[in-house]
Amino acid sequence: MSVSVVAHAKRIVDAPITTWILLALPAPALLADIGVNERYYAELMYESGLPAVQLMILALAITPAMWLTKNWPRVHGIVRWMGKRRRYIGVAAFGYAALHTFFYIREIGSLDLVILELSEIELTTGWLAFVILLALALTSNDFSVRRMGKRWKRLQRVAYLAAATTALHWFLFDQFLNEMLWWFGLIALLQIARVLIQRLGSRRTAVAR
Ligand code: HEM
Repeated sequence: MSVSVVAHAKRIVDAPITTWILLALPAPALLADIGVNERYYAELMYESGLPAVQLMILALAITPAMWLTKNWPRVHGIVRWMGKRRRYIGVAAFGYAALHTFFYIREIGSLDLVILELSEIELTTGWLAFVILLALALTSNDFSVRRMGKRWKRLQRVAYLAAATTALHWFLFDQFLNEMLWWFGLIALLQIARVLIQRLGSRRTAVAR
């Protein structure tokens, strides 16, 4: 393959628009229902909730994956590529959560009822996750990173709380644990593996001294 073809392909892969196109792939089928309201409510809720969960998990998986792939340069390169786009991934997760919320409000059809249902734990957990994703999406820009300094990193950590409340939200609505456990188990396992490897690494350094 000539050098210029490779350089051209790399430019396409690295362009922000490529990431946005990939992240937007599930969106057209959902957006198409906004005006027509033809699809089943449960189907829309599942199809908007799932990409929100998947992207949230993907964003959270990047840090432990960086640690775990340190000795595999090729895989590590892919993880780093995703790491540079983590903000886009978080914003897209919020976008699907916003669509999910829109379908809910449209189905309920009354603001009073939405407020009344807020106190039901399966919905309180959803709203809490939504508010966190909103705060993270609003601060996903260079200006906020500069302005907030250390507080920005601290705010990013609340993403774990969003993941925990979403897991509870999903479980309370759909007690077939299978799919939920698969996604949230994955992030729990990655975190456990990262902590174990970090500890092992620091013990080895201590022994070598
Ligand atoms: C604004 C707050 C939210 C509200 C009002 C809300 C509402 C709902 C409702 C009513 C259902 C059950 C739908 C049905 O009857 O089948 C549901 C399910 C679900 N929600 Fe939410 N949700 C919210 C936030 C979120 C967020 C932030 C996420 C993900 C990050 C999420 C992911 C899911 C998932 C995965 C399901 C399970 C769908 C299924 O298995 O059928 N929700 N949500």
